[in-house]
Amino acid sequence: MEKIRAWTLADIPAIVALERACFSDPWTAEAWLGAIPRADVFGFVAEENGELVGFACGTALFEDSEIWKVAVRETMRGKGLGGALTDALLNEAKARGAQRTFLEVRVGNQAAIGLYRSRGFETTRERKKYYADGEDALEMKKDL
Ligand SMILES: CC(C)(COP(=O)(O)OP(=O)(O)OC[C@H]1O[C@@H](n2cnc3c(N)ncnc32)[C@H](O)[C@@H]1OP(=O)(O)O)[C@@H](O)C(=O)NCCC(=O)NCCS
Repeated sequence: MEKIRAWTLADIPAIVALERACFSDPWTAEAWLGAIPRADVFGFVAEENGELVGFACGTALFEDSEIWKVAVRETMRGKGLGGALTDALLNEAKARGAQRTFLEVRVGNQAAIGLYRSRGFETTRERKKYYADGEDALEMKKDL
């Protein structure tokens, strides 16, 4: 049975390992160590039988919030976990008083674009060569 809960510093090794498996440009453990305790940053993990199989994080400051990352272990995709993690971020941002959420996503990342559209995000603009490897980004927005 899967469970969603707020992250803790003890989750860092598992988050780093999952992020390396899911992203071409992962953060370092030190970057996570700096981000997780920040008051404006929040995150959630998905566990199955006590094992971390997904995580999502973002930030909120006054009326604006951002989704930074959502990732689910490849073998666990398509079961609603990415959606549940995104919903947890949106609920937390709203609880903190944010009125809208922004994010950037690679134009070729159909799964992520599908996930964000399913949660009501709309594309606001395209950012050319936004990523280090030259891929364009879509900027998406949702009013909370
Ligand atoms: C994006 C990602 C988190 C989706 O996780 P998931 O657990 O498979 O997503 P869910 O099963 O909860 O699906 C949620 C919605 O996304 C849509 N979706 C999921 N995979 C999709 C795909 N391959 N193509 C199109 N839409 C897709 C589904 O239609 C679903 O919508 P619904 O709720 O209306 O049915 C997962 O593919 C992943 O970890 N990718 C690698 C990391 C990444 O690129 N993260 C995003 C950038 S930060």
